[in-house]
Amino acid sequence: MKRIGVFTSGGDAPGMNACIRAIVRAAVYHGVEVYGIHRGYKGMIKGEIYKMDSHSVSNIIQKGGTILRSARSKEFVTPEGRKMAYDQLQKFGIEGLVCIGGDGTFTGANIFFEEFGIPTVGAPGTIDNDLYGTDYTIGYDTAVNTALDAIDKIRDTADSHDRVFFIEVMGRDSGYIAMPCAVGGGAEIVMIPETETTIDEVVDTLRTGWNRSKTSFIVIVAEGDDAGNATEVAAKVQQELPHMDARVTILGHVQRGGAPTAADRMLASQLGIACVEGLLEGRKCEMAGIINGEIVYTPFIDTITKDKLINPNYLKMVNILSV
Ligand code: F6P
Repeated sequence: MKRIGVFTSGGDAPGMNACIRAIVRAAVYHGVEVYGIHRGYKGMIKGEIYKMDSHSVSNIIQKGGTILRSARSKEFVTPEGRKMAYDQLQKFGIEGLVCIGGDGTFTGANIFFEEFGIPTVGAPGTIDNDLYGTDYTIGYDTAVNTALDAIDKIRDTADSHDRVFFIEVMGRDSGYIAMPCAVGGGAEIVMIPETETTIDEVVDTLRTGWNRSKTSFIVIVAEGDDAGNATEVAAKVQQELPHMDARVTILGHVQRGGAPTAADRMLASQLGIACVEGLLEGRKCEMAGIINGEIVYTPFIDTITKDKLINPNYLKMVNILSV
């Protein structure tokens, strides 16, 4: 393989740039030409494809976002869109791809290989950490630390005003971001999609704490929780506990930006190299991940269909630590 393309797709995540840098430099190191595809599959269809070299990725390891931009493409979902993307790759002589993204990105890469035989190896790039086949995804550590920093600040004002804060964190259908935020942020309650927490349970915990002379509380709500978002949960709880002064904070996209932590830079650099080397070894439709410190390649189909379970002991920890 003499020429490869690299792109980022789906939600951006801190550390994507560090990964792009590693991919480009690993390709140069192995004597392979590398082209950057802008705006994911959307840009692939439009031919937004540019040659990169070692200098193209100078001074980006510390930057959040993605220099290649990102997008979610509706056109790539159609056979016509994928044919247009294939034609563009042919035009540039690109024989293999490295993508950084999540399950949507990998699903697209799988179909693309079935239809046109273009092999892709992927790096897990999402703040959600919801991909099977790796202990951590690129961007997760940074997002958790960003959220924790905000939670610490909210705790100050919650304490000053004797308030209960319902803080919503991202994670789509997973509680991976919520869990360390709750343990590390000293929350009384964490609500995650993986386990059911009823409004009655939330009310009971708050009431018990109040009766024990606790005056401020932090409730972490994962955005995908079944009981509703933080605003809905707060409204229902407030009806039962009208004497408590409740506020809601939605941390939102602040969790997606910022300079990547050391852990994310390291992970992104390792996985970027692993993707290129995997592709050159003949791998296709696989994600490079790290499990227990070792590089592991997992078929895209498994990363998409298998669940990555959260350690149930963490929930118990929140209960014990907030007593
Ligand atoms: O997958 C990353 C993520 O930030 C999720 O946590 C969140 O649900 C979603 O993307 C938000 O997507 P958008 O950027 O399209 O608003």
